[in-house]
Amino acid sequence: MKIVVLAGGTSTEREVSIVTGTGVCKALRERGHQAVLLDVFFGLASAESGEVFTDDYDVDQAAAYMRSFNGRLEQEKVQRREFFGPQVIRLCQAADIVFMALHGSNGEDGKVQAAFDLYGIRYTGTEYLSSAIAMNKSLTKQFFRAWKVPTPGGAVFNRNQKDIGLEANGLKLPVVVKPCCGGSSVGITIARTDEEYEQSLKEAFSYEDQIVVEEYIDGREFSVAVIGGKAYPVIEIAPKEGFYDYHNKYQAGSTVETCPAELSPDKTREMQEYAKLGTKALGITGYCRLDFMMDQDEKMYCLEANTLPGMTPTSLIPQEAEVLGESYPELCEKLIRISLE
Ligand code: DAL
Ligand code: MG
Repeated sequence: MKIVVLAGGTSTEREVSIVTGTGVCKALRERGHQAVLLDVFFGLASAESGEVFTDDYDVDQAAAYMRSFNGRLEQEKVQRREFFGPQVIRLCQAADIVFMALHGSNGEDGKVQAAFDLYGIRYTGTEYLSSAIAMNKSLTKQFFRAWKVPTPGGAVFNRNQKDIGLEANGLKLPVVVKPCCGGSSVGITIARTDEEYEQSLKEAFSYEDQIVVEEYIDGREFSVAVIGGKAYPVIEIAPKEGFYDYHNKYQAGSTVETCPAELSPDKTREMQEYAKLGTKALGITGYCRLDFMMDQDEKMYCLEANTLPGMTPTSLIPQEAEVLGESYPELCEKLIRISLE
């Protein structure tokens, strides 16, 4: 198959996306596909060439080309309208499917998916509306509550809102403060004192105009993938220090990941059922990964659903798949297969 692996973008998760895209692109080529890595906003390394789906394509060179924009992205504050040009659309139309390796805003949030729907381009993962809902942590909470998926209590605040006191909003310290639509825990902090709360608000508002303040759940952290309607084995994530923030997510050796998680069969099943219900609540098709906390009384809470979760060879979903005997390249192919069904 001719496959465009779409990665990069302008979100805070650009670098993670390049790592996901590189891994997926290499895996698909290993399986005999003519996969190419395309930066959603900066195009291809070999922009001038007519035929890009060739056998001698160099994935590492393409990734290096993408990384060459990382600094420029920040300096020039490139505006969105400059990207996503005809070249990207033309190449995606020439492919049998686009593998979505984007993370975060302008990629995981449904905007690219909506454009692809208009152009008749097929892509992996769920469609635009569920992508948009799942990207927004406040909307996600509302859907989870309506569908009785347990989720931590919380409130949403806007930048210019006056009343952002905890008590008035039914919350008390400690709390977790999050940008509303971010990923990879960028901008997320835990506040245990009033001073920390002030700092946390500043930090989260430096990323977005809307933030979510959530009850802090003291306990263990887990994640479950739902692929093609089936819940995968539960994985436990235990950072050696602090919580599963950006550093602990991407610094090798800083987090112990155990799959299958050491949970009773009943609790495992319960989490998998909530994962499937959460997926249904948000209208997600294809695949996603839902993140959970479980408190000291073994009560579980679903934090969110990631519709384009990390897919590097060592990411959480590939680890869950390995327990089922699915290799990383097989998993990448499966995500394509279920999206074409
Ligand atoms: N947002 C990151 C990529 C994840 O959920 O895996
Ligand atoms: Mg997320």
